[in-house]
Amino acid sequence: MIYFDNSATTQSAPDVVATYDKVSHQIWGNPSSLHQFGEQAFNLLEQSRKQIADLLGASQSEILFTSGGTEGDNWVVKGTAIEKRAFGNHLITTAVEHPAIHNSMEQLKQLGYEVTYLPVDEHGRISIDDLKAAIRPTTILVSVMAVNNEIGTIQPLTEVADVLKDYPKIHFHIDAVQGIGKGIQDMIMNDRVDYVTFSGHKFHAPRGIGFIYARRGRKIAPLLTGGGQERNLRSGTENLPAIAAMAKALRLLLDNEPAKVDMQRQIKERIYNHVKDFPLVTTFSEDNDGFAPHILCFAIRGVRGETIVHAFEEHQIYISTTSACSSKKHLASSTLTAMRIPEDVSTSAIRISLDEHNTLAEADEFNTVFDQLYKQFEKLSSTTADEPAKA
Ligand SMILES: Cc1ncc(COP(=O)(O)O)c(C=O)c1O
Repeated sequence: MIYFDNSATTQSAPDVVATYDKVSHQIWGNPSSLHQFGEQAFNLLEQSRKQIADLLGASQSEILFTSGGTEGDNWVVKGTAIEKRAFGNHLITTAVEHPAIHNSMEQLKQLGYEVTYLPVDEHGRISIDDLKAAIRPTTILVSVMAVNNEIGTIQPLTEVADVLKDYPKIHFHIDAVQGIGKGIQDMIMNDRVDYVTFSGHKFHAPRGIGFIYARRGRKIAPLLTGGGQERNLRSGTENLPAIAAMAKALRLLLDNEPAKVDMQRQIKERIYNHVKDFPLVTTFSEDNDGFAPHILCFAIRGVRGETIVHAFEEHQIYISTTSACSSKKHLASSTLTAMRIPEDVSTSAIRISLDEHNTLAEADEFNTVFDQLYKQFEKLSSTTADEPAKA
């Protein structure tokens, strides 16, 4: 079995599951309780928070636990909008964000906020000139993802940070759900960013747990109000087993990160170099530093993405159409649409997404199976090899 769908979710690491189990069995008190079981749970909660903060170069009070990436994104966008309503009603984001950002923005539009979606070039990347031109006196938030979940583009976060240094009142948010552990932590945890979203299940922690980094001194309104956990900012009894497991998963992820990133890049390169010259293939992810090491997206023109996914599944190779969210809805990829890729090509796209456990031998096996399947794809394809174009 070859699992190449790590951007959808990762398998929980055995050590991480062991931590989850141990905490569930042994440290089951409520961190808010005054007695010793509460104190024990509170201590572990804060220890986990400190461990995560240390790994990211943040302080303990700047880490706030959530239920995952979707909550983190919703919170920063809507929490900023509520908190800063008196200062402005304009938000800037990109045309290629995850729906957790996009749909939060759309909801705000219905409430009278104004949103600018920065367009992207043929690589799915925004332009800094467009960003500069979009900023208004009423702008309260700029939200830019670190790594695109569909094709792996890394956005120019350092340049965005530089621009925003001249606008200290604007909140700068990065959705780093696909970016953590991929060798770009300096770009993400830059000296200007105010909020960063992380999701545990993308790095071998359990599903349903995540956190945001929130720069000290910045304020967003809570979306979940109630018992006042997380410094009154995110109510709800803390999911301590998952939090402790996530802290462990993050430590394991970042241990020896450069070697892991390098291996993922080699695997991606091996597949990329193999498939790119087949006549029906159009590649979208480039094989360079402007793209994450673990995501490779390409189309086999004339064959539906779902057909390709199931054909590989018969060989126990698990890949996806461009994102887990869009695949069951049979939607064209929103990133490829924003890149102005025609729908008949974008619906033929598939995504391979790696993690640190994949191997070059798996890449070779993928390539062998690809060669076998390509003959079927040629028959299925309604296009010809001469027809349009490499994107
Ligand atoms: C870039 C990005 N942001 C946010 C999310 C949502 O994260 P979660 O699944 O933890 O809600 C995802 C999930 O795929 C993602 O890829």
